[in-house]
Amino acid sequence: MKILIKNNDEKMSKEAAKIIINQINIKSNSVIGFATGGTPLGLYKELIIAYNEDNLDFTQMITFNLDEYVGLPKSHEQSYNKFMWDNLFNHINVKKENVNIPDGMVSDPEGFCKEYEKKIEEVGGIDIQILGIGRNGHIAFNEPGSEFDSRTRVVRLTEETIKDNSIFFEDIHDVPTKAITMGLGTIMEARKIILLARGNNKSDAINKLLNGLVTKEAPATVLKNHKNVTIIIDKEAAE
Ligand code: F6R
Repeated sequence: MKILIKNNDEKMSKEAAKIIINQINIKSNSVIGFATGGTPLGLYKELIIAYNEDNLDFTQMITFNLDEYVGLPKSHEQSYNKFMWDNLFNHINVKKENVNIPDGMVSDPEGFCKEYEKKIEEVGGIDIQILGIGRNGHIAFNEPGSEFDSRTRVVRLTEETIKDNSIFFEDIHDVPTKAITMGLGTIMEARKIILLARGNNKSDAINKLLNGLVTKEAPATVLKNHKNVTIIIDKEAAE
């Protein structure tokens, strides 16, 4: 694992953006796995700058998002679909048909998840997967206890995750209790992984990832078994 400690969010975001931009420059039809949440927002701003100022072309890029709440329509303020369009996709020239985000409203979630996996396989797998990390060590919505070989599936969110995410909802009871998430097995098949973390509330999870044993109780520790992981964190998360 390569570990980069940066002074602030802007420097972290620029470093991560450099890797993604380089990938798109080398292979225009790269398959990029995107994450939502507060952490990658700066990175998405940098990608928008690369599009506006350096004419970076995203028309061939294929995207797969990590997760989505079950029960939220795409138009919902807090859906991850809306998050991605508002914060990145609407501001670059990605093609709508190349964007893949789990749909939390499907009537057959199991069938949908199988199809999602098949689509990733059909485009040749994910070139770079961007990840954040939960305070409990989750990656995507693979909560503690998730199997290392898990695939895209419906999961139940832990109380801790519901509480953390409730800041984005009017009432904690509005936070969905289930989500569709790529599995740890799915994520581990990405050829390259970038994990971003900032703030001292992530330092415990980062400590376990860097210094702890590989255990299902801290799902991110599975990344120790991956050959090409870059961890970009700020000073607070590194404490
Ligand atoms: C989001 C996701 C989550 C977040 C994690 C950190 O797609 O998969 O695992 O990356 O919960 O969220 P933030 O960045 O808001 O601290």
